[in-house]
Amino acid sequence: MARLTVVDHPLVQRDLAVLRAADTPHAVFRKTLSEVASFLAYEALRDLRVREVEVRTPLEPAVGHVLAEDVVVVPILRAGLGMLDGTLRLVPEARVGHMGLYRDETTFEPVSYYMRLPAGLDRARVVVLDPMLATGGSVIEAIRRLKAAGADRLTVVSLVAAPEGIERLAAAYPDVPVVTAALDRALDENAYIRPGLGDAGDRVFGTDL
Ligand code: PRP
Ligand code: URA
Repeated sequence: MARLTVVDHPLVQRDLAVLRAADTPHAVFRKTLSEVASFLAYEALRDLRVREVEVRTPLEPAVGHVLAEDVVVVPILRAGLGMLDGTLRLVPEARVGHMGLYRDETTFEPVSYYMRLPAGLDRARVVVLDPMLATGGSVIEAIRRLKAAGADRLTVVSLVAAPEGIERLAAAYPDVPVVTAALDRALDENAYIRPGLGDAGDRVFGTDL
């Protein structure tokens, strides 16, 4: 298995139940995905490098910390966009790259249609956002492209992962940790995660209606 962290915090699991429910309206889905993304990013950035600085309290000097590495957040379009605001709430200074990928409906292989990345990825902590890690194809393709662009310290933040995708990612990139809210049962014949939450992009953007 990849270096996998399943965040079992009650607030995350409460949000996940809202996101799984078929009758959750789009506005609530969007707001809840943004909120849970903050919790997941908080966990994913636990090992961010920091530097000590001296700060002066009203009473005396104290040791404080500032971030010692750039953070670059890369949502995989479309659904990863639903996790962007929540992540940037924690690290407003982060820069953002965009990775446009969709899954071919018959082969389930990722098809790339857009990529715009900031410079300096080799010096950055790179956080890839995608709520669904199903076959793992999209995340693996994103990591391949990010590594080719120089990224070295990568973490994947997902919401729901399938065991098949986690296995495949671990085989391809054993150095890349994954933080998720759930490791679900399995993929179905359409490579959808079961129980899952359906098509995340459609639910974020209302394109299922
Ligand atoms: C979904 C999802 C992931 C991908 C996961 O995107 O957001 O990017 O599928 O599947 P995989 O692990 O098997 O690659 P989709 O292709 O539906 O595109 P969309 O976000 O634009 O709807
Ligand atoms: N993409 C989704 O949005 N949902 C799944 O279950 C699998 C891929």
